[in-house]
Amino acid sequence: MLVLPDHGSNPQYTYKAMDIRMPDQIVDLSANINPHGPPAVLKKIWKDLLDEIITYPDPHSAALRRSIARKEEIEAEAILIGNGGAELIHLIGRWLSHSNVLIIHPTFSEYEKACQINDCTIHHFILKENDWDLDVNQLKATLPKMDAVFICNPTNPTGVLYSASKLEEIIIEANNKNCYVIVDEAFYDFPLEEVTIAPLVKKYTNLMVLRSMTKMFSIPGIRLGFLMAGETVVKELETYQVHWSVNGIAQKVGETLLEEKDFIRHTQCMVKREREELFAFFDECQFDYSPSQTNFYLLRDPELNGQTELFRFLLENGIVSRHTLNFKGLDGRWLRFAVKGEKEHEKLMDALTEWKSRP
Ligand SMILES: Cc1ncc(COP(=O)(O)O)c(C=O)c1O
Repeated sequence: MLVLPDHGSNPQYTYKAMDIRMPDQIVDLSANINPHGPPAVLKKIWKDLLDEIITYPDPHSAALRRSIARKEEIEAEAILIGNGGAELIHLIGRWLSHSNVLIIHPTFSEYEKACQINDCTIHHFILKENDWDLDVNQLKATLPKMDAVFICNPTNPTGVLYSASKLEEIIIEANNKNCYVIVDEAFYDFPLEEVTIAPLVKKYTNLMVLRSMTKMFSIPGIRLGFLMAGETVVKELETYQVHWSVNGIAQKVGETLLEEKDFIRHTQCMVKREREELFAFFDECQFDYSPSQTNFYLLRDPELNGQTELFRFLLENGIVSRHTLNFKGLDGRWLRFAVKGEKEHEKLMDALTEWKSRP
């Protein structure tokens, strides 16, 4: 049986699982990371960061918390810094232990994993394929039975973005039913028109908003994310966190990157331009794709059901996409690709053209 890695990135494991020799040159489109790489300022401060490794880091990341609080216009006590968004998801899973949790699929697999290992009863809300629209009334009807619901916005892996008003409607109803809403905004800063509900944490104590600094700033190796929520929730989650979990380099890097507004704008424009060019090509060559508004999208050849054959063809041609076999509601019928730069997309389009013209 084919067992592929649970996440994108680390393409050597995908090649190994598929029993294909990894070419010397590959285009890795399996991880949704900014193709610009980290902002130039990071290279500039890199040497100074060495000072951070000779002392224990601030266990409360106080300076970074204050900087985020200023930017988001919320209290520093309403923020928890994490060793990547992934750590925060797992802290939430532990905090929710033995609860009834609703997960909206297809979505990032760590929510389910974090809840599963903490003996939650997991309920699945599967969105209709092709538009993945969120039917608020249908969702509201499930809330009385739930203690928490996870929503990813924009959603990994479809790239679909829900409006703040739609989410607020869900949060209000959930609040009335004593249900927490966890909104993962790991990719909120890639669409040209950012949608965030972070300011609502001041209004609704049942809301938690999660952010990752990994994606926009291309620093998955540093591990940095943060959570915005009511002060009581933040305090409780912090009690589960390993002391010194967020290292000193990550804290300093975070403070510096919060200032990088031009870098973000530049990335947003590039992503929009590249995505639109690709989608025009997909229309022309008759590939189906998800209505993404962010830096990744789903793609399928409508002539196939499962896409393993296309996945293999692309790997053999040095292009790594992300399989969707472990996304509930997709089950391998799509492949996910990150939006990257012009050179990478030329290679992708060449390979897809060759795929369509094979006998
Ligand atoms: C939707 C989503 N949330 C959170 C994360 C975790 O990101 P990190 O732990 O790198 O901050 C990821 C990583 O792929 C993700 O896709």
